[in-house]
Amino acid sequence: MDLSVRIGSLTLKNPLLAASGCFGYGVEYADVVDLSSLGGVVSKGLFLAEREGHPAPRIVETPAGMLNAIGLQGIGVRRFVDEKLPELRARKATVVVNVCGTTLDEYVEVSRILSDADGVDAIELNISCPNIKEGGIQFGCSLAGTFDVVSAVRNVTRLPVIPKLTPNVTDVASFARAAEDGGADAVSLVNTFLAMVIDVETRRPKISNIVGGLSGPAIRPIAVRMVYECRQTVKIPIIGMGGIADARDALEFMIAGATAVQVGTANFVDPFIWSKLLAGMREYMERHNIARIADLVGTIDTGHTVAERSGV
Ligand SMILES: Cc1cc2nc3c(=O)[nH]c(=O)nc-3n(C[C@H](O)[C@H](O)[C@H](O)COP(=O)(O)O)c2cc1C
Repeated sequence: MDLSVRIGSLTLKNPLLAASGCFGYGVEYADVVDLSSLGGVVSKGLFLAEREGHPAPRIVETPAGMLNAIGLQGIGVRRFVDEKLPELRARKATVVVNVCGTTLDEYVEVSRILSDADGVDAIELNISCPNIKEGGIQFGCSLAGTFDVVSAVRNVTRLPVIPKLTPNVTDVASFARAAEDGGADAVSLVNTFLAMVIDVETRRPKISNIVGGLSGPAIRPIAVRMVYECRQTVKIPIIGMGGIADARDALEFMIAGATAVQVGTANFVDPFIWSKLLAGMREYMERHNIARIADLVGTIDTGHTVAERSGV
């Protein structure tokens, strides 16, 4: 049974990655999860400098999900390289670093530092954080901005470049196209959906930033639709995410067109989810006689549905 998938020049041993911001820098989970058994670990978002993030409360549970406005708290790229990367390397993790920037130059500089470091396997460009004004969303909500930041980073690194798209746009596929045109090796989607929660007794928002990003099972059908739309539009691989909580959810994204998937919020519910996801995937492959998981990608059967709709 072959679970490996390819993202540009990078081969992942299986399609399951831990999503940014939901798995620390990876090392925090090393005693709970064998990091080398994952397809990859995506770090928390990193700027050049350390960031405090927003004041608490920064997360709140919602029906079938959670709202967060962490504000991209982080240790900065240099401390990551010095303090976290060596252990990730020692644990044989496949490391994808989530890169943030307030300016195009910052994206380029952070990416350059990571390219020179030993042990980084790919760069995920966070142009989609909804929680801070300068969190890249100004790039990720503009087609030209998406193209510009992707091509600028493309020019300074040989690592696979994977822009992470925001779902807070009308036509996400056009952003995937802009990323592809800019030289992206893959796109990942989705980041969280802008949302808010109010305590009706106090009439106060439940998180300090007033609005935040919604994640978890509540967003999954929308995310699957977006992956499907992007699959129709671009040729580069897609890494899908949004509310994956079991193997069937992951497979749904792959059938819609994702080559790999990330799992975020579910880590907070069950940090031991990884072995179950892998076992569920293997069980499905056996039952459906699938030797290579890569053969499942984009195999959605819409023919019948379309024919029915058009009255054929
Ligand atoms: C607490 C929290 C922190 C997050 N931090 C980041 C981040 O630093 N960078 C990023 O690109 N996405 C971040 N995300 C978004 C997730 O990586 C993911 O795109 C989103 O939560 C949807 O997947 P999920 O429903 O499996 O959580 C964060 C999400 C949560 C819940």
